[in-house]
Amino acid sequence: MNKITVRVKPAYDVIIGKGIIKNAGMLISKATGSRRFIVVTNRKVFALHGRELIKSLTGLKHTVHFIKDGEEYKNLSTLDGIYKACVKAGLDRSSCIIAFGGGVTGDTAGFAAATYMRGIKYAQVPTTLLSQVDSSVGGKTGIDAAYGKNMIGAFYQPSIVLADTDTLKTLNKSEFNNGMAEVIKHGIIADKKYFDYIIGNEKRIKSMDDYSLEYIVAGSVRIKSRIVAADEKEITGLRALLNFGHTAGHAIETAMHYKGIKHGEAVAVGSVIAAKISAKAGFCDESTVRVINEAYNLFNLIKPLKKVKKALILSLLFNDKKVKDGKIRFVLTKGIGSAKLIDNVDLSLIKREILNFL
Ligand code: NAD
Ligand code: GLY
Repeated sequence: MNKITVRVKPAYDVIIGKGIIKNAGMLISKATGSRRFIVVTNRKVFALHGRELIKSLTGLKHTVHFIKDGEEYKNLSTLDGIYKACVKAGLDRSSCIIAFGGGVTGDTAGFAAATYMRGIKYAQVPTTLLSQVDSSVGGKTGIDAAYGKNMIGAFYQPSIVLADTDTLKTLNKSEFNNGMAEVIKHGIIADKKYFDYIIGNEKRIKSMDDYSLEYIVAGSVRIKSRIVAADEKEITGLRALLNFGHTAGHAIETAMHYKGIKHGEAVAVGSVIAAKISAKAGFCDESTVRVINEAYNLFNLIKPLKKVKKALILSLLFNDKKVKDGKIRFVLTKGIGSAKLIDNVDLSLIKREILNFL
């Protein structure tokens, strides 16, 4: 078991380990001091892992509220459903929401907690690799709107995060690899030793053996929590490093209307493009680009993007709010284990590398 403290105010623990859901009720009630709980989850996650969680809540007042499964339900209507369930269950300001599922559940239930009665406690119990290594830590909560993804939200930290690595074993390969994109990204931006472990232990990780699952989740949480503690609200530019690969990745996802490409695949392609730009701008050498490309390939994350509309991707980039005088803020790598937010990267360089890649 690993316990990592996220040193924001107030600080909270991320507990990572095999089978820790069994102790969820005790750990969450201790961290929150709450006496009434609502579990927000979807039917798929609940059918797979709900029994253990509910058993752990024996003796505590709790109800379960189901939301629909899928990014398209990370919206106002689902949020309203959660508020209504909170009212019906008699939740007051001392109560607690338990977000039990992947990033969609965590972001939506977290935002409900941030806003219900001006903010109540919540616990994250993430069950996908992406949510364990990324979305459950750091307090970014929110929903999507017709005018953009994650457009409505709040920075609102949980009281505790419980990442049970056993839950990852029911993920299909493609969902697992989707999370690996963020794991690899953490290595690239902050920790070469961690990155080397991933490359050197590809088979163990793919076979989901207990040691390597806990190693990668704890490693990523350690990196992310350090960054979040230093720049909680993404003001100094440090937290922006977590967006490595995301500028080009987002443009690709948006141009494809989020269809036929997973977020992790877009991040992988975006990261290779960012690495190429880093090399061209003199921040790293070509061997770094090769190593990054190989790492994402190990987890089947680099796919040919045949149907993508190149012109649309470029126009999305050029219209980005961050563009000023043909230059854009962009996260570049200075070699594995190091990254930097650069204020004035030439858009023409980015354009050339994207076109070369596609
Ligand atoms: P998701 O929540 O949609 O989960 C993916 C699928 O896996 C769903 O069908 C889900 O029901 C299923 N699932 C969940 N746990 C499972 C398990 N243990 N076994 C089998 N199936 C399981 O997607 P995700 O990839 O977890 O999260 C993506 C979301 O996270 C996006 O909305 C994204 O915007 C958000 N996100 C937020 C942050 C943040 O900092 N808040 C960071 C990254 C991503
Ligand atoms: N996922 C990026 C962040 O939390 O800042």
